[in-house]
Amino acid sequence: MYQLAPSMLSADFNRLGEQLQEIEKAGNEWLHVDVMDGEFVPSISFGMPVIASIRKESNLFFDVHLMITEPIRYIQEFADCGADMLTIHVEACEDVARTIEKIRECGCKVGITLNPGTPLAEITPFLELVDMVLIMSVNPGFGGQKYIESSTGKIAELREILDEKKLHVDIEVDGGINDETLPIVLDAGANIIVAGSAVFHGDIAANVRKFNKALHK
Ligand code: DX5
Ligand code: ZN
Repeated sequence: MYQLAPSMLSADFNRLGEQLQEIEKAGNEWLHVDVMDGEFVPSISFGMPVIASIRKESNLFFDVHLMITEPIRYIQEFADCGADMLTIHVEACEDVARTIEKIRECGCKVGITLNPGTPLAEITPFLELVDMVLIMSVNPGFGGQKYIESSTGKIAELREILDEKKLHVDIEVDGGINDETLPIVLDAGANIIVAGSAVFHGDIAANVRKFNKALHK
């Protein structure tokens, strides 16, 4: 299964509903929703009220990336406002296994992620417990950054580990994905592709179709 997950962070928030409709009408299924708390990352984005509001008008799968300290405090609220999947940072949780368990209890799919500087070994103990691993290919906090080259090896290594363990876990990649970097991450083994600026700058529907064409060929 391949999916494009357009990152809402790069949307024009004055026209958010309209832009999400465009994505859905272009045949896309996923939406990547970046939540930032100004503590785990330097920036603050948006939270539950915005997610609840777009949920009313959207059938997209809400892939919510929690860049927040101790996300366990808010799992229930994110589930209630309409998240389909919650991805937590291994660096942000005191008790990762308990946080994962809490996400399951709330009925959401589970993703785990790590910063570019964090070794894969930090997440390998949790691979049996999650639906998806997100490989951050930029330092989290802002859209429009350059792809960090060492992410390619990390994706490939993770794909190998998952194959070895015979685990059906998705690999998502987030940060700096465009026409140039897309073939590289696909080749390395990623199957869920986050793209912010490459989707929301210019003709959104055309960008979504172009990405999906590359993903489904
Ligand atoms: C960065 C976010 C990303 C970001 C990606 O902290 O997690 O989802 O929006 O944006 P681009 O695709 O522009 O690098
Ligand atoms: Zn993200």
